[in-house]
Order: sequence, then structure tokens, then C-alpha cells
Amino acid sequence: MIYYLTLSLSLLFGSVVVALYYYYQTTYKKFQAILAAEKFKDLPEVQNPISLKVESGKIPEWFSGIMYRVGPGRFNLQQENGPSFSIRHAFDGLPFMHRFHINGSNQTVTYNSRVLFKAAQTSFEGNNKKDISPIFFGHLSQISFLEWFVHLVNRMRVLILFPTPKSNMAPDSASVGVTVTPGFPLPKALHGAEDKEKVLVSKTDANILQKIHAETLEPQRLFDYADYDARFDGQFSAAHHQYDPITKEVFNFSLTITPQPKLIVFKISPDGKTTTILSTITHHYDKKTPFGAAYIHSFWLTKNYVIIPEAPLAIKDKGLNMLLTGSFLSSMSWDIHRPTYCHVIRRHPINGEDGLIASIPIKDNFFTFHTGNAYEITCPSTGDSLLTLKSASFANGDIMHQLHSYGVPHHKRPSWDDAPVSDQSSHSRFLNGLNHPPRRQTCFGDFVQYQLNLTKNAVRQIDVLAKNVEFPRFNQQKSMLEERYVYGCQLYGYTEKKDETCCLVKIDTTTSKPSYSSDNVLTYIKEGYMCSEPIFVPQPSATEEDDGVLLSLMNHADCCYLIILDAKTMKEAARVKIGQFTAITFHGSYVDHEFEPVNIS
Ligand SMILES: [Fe+2]
Repeated sequence: MIYYLTLSLSLLFGSVVVALYYYYQTTYKKFQAILAAEKFKDLPEVQNPISLKVESGKIPEWFSGIMYRVGPGRFNLQQENGPSFSIRHAFDGLPFMHRFHINGSNQTVTYNSRVLFKAAQTSFEGNNKKDISPIFFGHLSQISFLEWFVHLVNRMRVLILFPTPKSNMAPDSASVGVTVTPGFPLPKALHGAEDKEKVLVSKTDANILQKIHAETLEPQRLFDYADYDARFDGQFSAAHHQYDPITKEVFNFSLTITPQPKLIVFKISPDGKTTTILSTITHHYDKKTPFGAAYIHSFWLTKNYVIIPEAPLAIKDKGLNMLLTGSFLSSMSWDIHRPTYCHVIRRHPINGEDGLIASIPIKDNFFTFHTGNAYEITCPSTGDSLLTLKSASFANGDIMHQLHSYGVPHHKRPSWDDAPVSDQSSHSRFLNGLNHPPRRQTCFGDFVQYQLNLTKNAVRQIDVLAKNVEFPRFNQQKSMLEERYVYGCQLYGYTEKKDETCCLVKIDTTTSKPSYSSDNVLTYIKEGYMCSEPIFVPQPSATEEDDGVLLSLMNHADCCYLIILDAKTMKEAARVKIGQFTAITFHGSYVDHEFEPVNIS
């Protein structure tokens, strides 16, 4: 009996090892090849504030406030006389927080920065053999089968068998660095003597938040949405929450992917003490179509509704590949035949009923990383209730594999057709509905306005307002109102004659209707210069929507600048050299000198 039991267990164990080895040799190595990116450079940490010099132009005298920006900064770790470790995906570099205190009255800019995930660096440099993170967004380590197996066991231990509550983790022991929000409400457990302090929180697409000291930028605490309400314990949420500047409520969701996808859409009161579930979505409004475990990075908010986009870019395998590879991207699939659905949810529940009132399909499917403004209007001719939703939309999910090398500058060289085989898509195949190997990103998606007829439960109109736009921002005083101007980034891939360039644009959405025309776009462009998401800051006495400035970071020739543009003309008002490095930042927020939110993400 014991003999047969031992034999059976040995055979089972052997089969598992063979299956895992097969997986490692095929799937793991396939994803490794897709995501092999160029090497990223590291940022220096500037813990003690330094004064920066205004290199040209002048900061407007009325300007007084703080810009925070967050993004990856440390990619290469090195043990003393030991092995090195390079992170090979733009999203996975150890996040840095940057703080700029800008004062126009005396033309000063003070800057400091800090690594937010210091524990990873310390752990690696301390000869810890474990991977620095249980799950990366896209990075896959180049490791042997045995090392991969050890990492897999460690992932299962940390994520499934013995997960540690976020609030018990060391403050700097997780990668939380996609968005930064000053004034974010804290859960009750984090209230106390600190109630009146300036609160700064960094966020990501996983259900984890990081409280950071608003001046020193030192990580102070990790927590998650379950700290507000135990029911919000899903694995994911949106890095971009929504915020009502009038009611000061915060909106987000908790997404669980197993055993069945479940999305809990909720709101949190301004003091962080009260939560309300607006909808629990396992099926669409028709109660038949299952909700897909979609990747949702941002969503829309209007005065009466939360609108969640469910793109056909989803976790189709219940996260199995993510667990096996350690990369979130390996679980992502694009379903070419499935529409993008817009789930419309009431902000003000009626009699405790679930707030989901429509799941409207948009047949020409799209994926949006970044939504723009949204608002409600009544159709003057029919009286129908209309929702206007703006977003930077990609026509498919390829961006997920393309963005692995985002931020690495590319100088002029032969175009794609003449490029080396490793760069071409001539051998391109589909893997999970996504092109691979990924063709280098040469432009962004379109900036699109979707108009939904809520009365008829249908799409009314779709307009492309501008081509090639990402990171849309606008005057936040127009949040949930019909805005005229949208600002964003525009990408031009390298050619034989031109360096890759990422410029800033201003779109006049009123002159672009009903169809796209380039006449409605003002541009700030310098060949070879890579600008990041612009943040609009209104002049305090402004009477017009675009009376103010744009703040952005700009990289060129291994040098990083803070630039301030006149938002009316898109001309450069001031340029400040930050340092001799390339800072990749995706997002930022701005507060005035009293720490009041002006434009936050
Ligand atoms: Fe984002």
C-alpha cells in the first residue's frame, strides 16, 4: 500500500515538474522574448531639496504651488562585487516621487525626489535571492528553470498561502507609483493625530495605496481599499480614481478575478469614514452577459453617473499565467470580436437598489488607458438624456506590449521597413490577440468623443476630435461640465531624418466637431524632445478657460527640464533644468501654496 502511494506521489510530482518545465521552456520564454526591452537608465535620488535655476524665460508672478510627479526611476540594481539585476519594462522600474515647489514671485524652484520602493533595492543589495516583486507589470527575469521555480513557489507563498495585510507591510515594500494624489482621504484606521497633516498618496492598478510624506516624500504606510471597507478586497482597482470637486467624494472600484470576475464600484466620503457600494457587477445590465475581467486603468464620472469602460482587453485565464510568469501582461488577451461596453452606474443609489442602469456596447471596440472629461446634457430636440465621454482610445490592445520600452529615447535611424529583423513586425503573429513581437510605438491612439443616449440605451455619435493623443488633461474647474480645451501629448516615431519626438498639444474641441480637422490643434514641438503629461494650472483671476499655464517634464539628450507653457499660445514661458538624467513620469498633480488641489490625477 505504502509502495503504491509513494509511487503515485512520485509520478504526480514528476508529472508536475515536467509540466512546469515545459511551461518554462515554451510560454515563459516566449513572453520573455516579447518583452525584451532596451536597458533603462537610473535616476539619481535627491532627498535633500535643491534649488533649480530658471534657465530661460520667466515663471508667471502669480504662480505659487507644488507639482508632484511619479514614475519609474531605478531599473538597475547591483550587489557589491556581486550580480546585477535589470528591470526591463518601463512600468516596473522602482518608482520615484518628484516634488517641485515653484514660486513665481521670487522665480525659485525647489526640487526633491525619493525612491518609493526602497525595500526592493535594499533586499537585492543585501543578497536576498528572492525576486524583488511578486508580480511585475511586464518584466520577466532572465533566469534558469530552477530560479524560476523558486520564484514561483515564493509568489504562491506571498500571494496565495500566506498573504500579508498591506497595512502590516513595511511602508516602502511595494511598487506603487503610477498616479499621485494630494489630499486623498485616508481610511479611519489611519486617522488620528495626523488628521490635519498634508496627505499625499500614490496609487497603481493593483489594490494597494501608499501614504507618503508630502514634503520629504518618505513612504509612511501601505494600505488598500479594504481598509476603508472590508468588502473592497479585490486584487485590482484603477490607478486613476475619480473625484468630484464639489462633493469631494472619491470613486473607484475593487476588481476580483477569481473564481468569477466581480467589480464592486464604490464611493468614499471626503473624510474617508463612510463608504457606499454603488454597484456589484458580475453580469451586464441584461443579467446574461458575464462581466469580463477587463483591465481598467481609468473611468468617467458625471454629476449623476459613474461610467466604467469594459474593453475586450481582459484577464482571460483567471490570472494563471500571471502567477506562473510573475508578469501581469502574460494574462492579458484582446478579443477582437467583443465590443467595448460602457457600464453606466448611478452615483446616488435609489432604495438600496444596485446602481447599474445600462451596459451599452460600442461595436468598434477600443481600449482606453486615459479617459478625459465627461458630462451630461439633454438633447434639445428630443429631450433624451445624453452622456458625453472623452478618451484617448487605442484601436486594439497592442499598446500593452508596445509600451515596454516607453521613455527610452530613439534617435533618427532607418524606418521600420529598413529596420533590423528584431525590430520588424514582418514575423508578427498574434499571441492572446496582441501582435508580437511588438512593433515600436510610432503614435498614440485617437482622442475620441463618445456620445451615449441613455434614454434609448444606445450609442448616439462617435467623433474623433484629434489624432495621436495621449495623457489628456484639462482645466479641472470644467470637470463634469462641457469643456472647450484639452491638453495632451502627441508622439512621432523616429525616421531616417528625424529623432523620436513627444510634443504637447492643445485641442479646441468646439472647432473639431463634427469631424476631425488638424486646424483645431496647437502644438509645442521640438524634435528629439520628449514631453510628459501636461498639467493645466489656471491663473487665479482667470476669466477664460485657457487662461493659465501647462506644467510638464521634458527630456532631451540625457537632460531633464521642467517647462512652463502659456496655455493660451502653447509658447514656452519658462524652462528650468532639473538635472543630467532622463526622468520618466507618467502622471502628476498640482496643489496651490495652501495645499489645495488644483489639478489632480
Ligand atoms: Fe495612467
